[in-house]
Amino acid sequence: MSEARTSRGVPGVLGVVASAAGGLESLRTGLVEPALARGWRVAVTLTPTAGRWLRAGGELDRLETLTGLPVRDHSRLPSDPRPHPPVACYVAAPATANTVAKLALGIADNQALTQLTEALGTPGLPVIVFPHINAAHARHPAWPTHLTNLRQAGVHLIQGPDVWPLHEPQAAPPKRELPWAEILRAVDDATR
Ligand SMILES: Cc1cc2nc3c(=O)[nH]c(=O)nc-3n(C[C@H](O)[C@H](O)[C@H](O)COP(=O)(O)O)c2cc1C
Repeated sequence: MSEARTSRGVPGVLGVVASAAGGLESLRTGLVEPALARGWRVAVTLTPTAGRWLRAGGELDRLETLTGLPVRDHSRLPSDPRPHPPVACYVAAPATANTVAKLALGIADNQALTQLTEALGTPGLPVIVFPHINAAHARHPAWPTHLTNLRQAGVHLIQGPDVWPLHEPQAAPPKRELPWAEILRAVDDATR
């Protein structure tokens, strides 16, 4: 039995981490609601910028109501209790080029990256990352090394021309859907 399952065979806590990329506004309908419907308890953590974006439209409040847990976008005081229960599987989606690069380098300068960098070093804890990037991000000279390092750390990357074809900046089709079905399938596979 996977460690992601409780002793009753139902999923445990899915850690959802999101950064300030296009499609962030579909996090609830694309990932959180379907994960809850599959039986996961969902704990959402955002980068500070993503937190600002979702708070502005009231979406952060909706996520808290839906999940029954606080949405984290900053670190706790050392004297505060941990706001989230232990996580059985992490999904970082959408992940900006910035967040992916920092994760690959082990930089943990916000709450979202603190959780993800630690997860990368935790044996048996699946980490799935969807880089929401464009063709210019991918041509950055450090990008291929970042992906190699993440793969070597066991990260399941949601990427490739069939899943997320790369467009030049400002040239992607409008209202482009994120590959939520692919991401949810990766969660299922990683925690089966
Ligand atoms: C409207 C808008 C859309 C953006 N979309 C993306 C994106 O899809 N991918 C990306 O890597 N950066 C995108 N950015 C840039 C990031 O928001 C920026 O690099 C930010 O510093 C990322 O911070 P974070 O990784 O801590 O969330 C976008 C910025 C804006 C204002």
